[in-house]
Amino acid sequence: MDDHDKVTMGVPVIDTEHREIYEICADFVVAAEAREPSHRLTPIFDRVIDRARSHFRSEEDILDRHGYPTLPTHRAEHERLLAQVENLRARWLEIESEQSRQQLAVDTAAYLLDWLVNHIQVDDRSYQAFLRRLA
Ligand SMILES: [Fe+2]
Ligand SMILES: [Fe+2]
Repeated sequence: MDDHDKVTMGVPVIDTEHREIYEICADFVVAAEAREPSHRLTPIFDRVIDRARSHFRSEEDILDRHGYPTLPTHRAEHERLLAQVENLRARWLEIESEQSRQQLAVDTAAYLLDWLVNHIQVDDRSYQAFLRRLA
């Protein structure tokens, strides 16, 4: 299975967004593991948060329009992740040592990529069959 297969679900708009967010997140992992300076890591981190937020919104809108029955649970998963990431972002700003920031970036990036792939493969996949039945 290549990287794209991991995030492909068959709904074109969502597939595109999943691929974009996966790629940005993978860039964050690479930059963090390369111990890029924090002024280079910060914009990538912010882009990941930004994309996640806008993707979650568009996914929730689609599910809402189609009356997806377990949308509240799905939305709560998105909100939980965003709250965690905002928390990590706040901690990131408080850290003064460059080395500690880089370590936090490594951990955060790995966590985000893992969360994302798991969420797409498990939680997002559960609405795939629902949307397909409507098509
Ligand atoms: Fe998604
Ligand atoms: Fe989702």
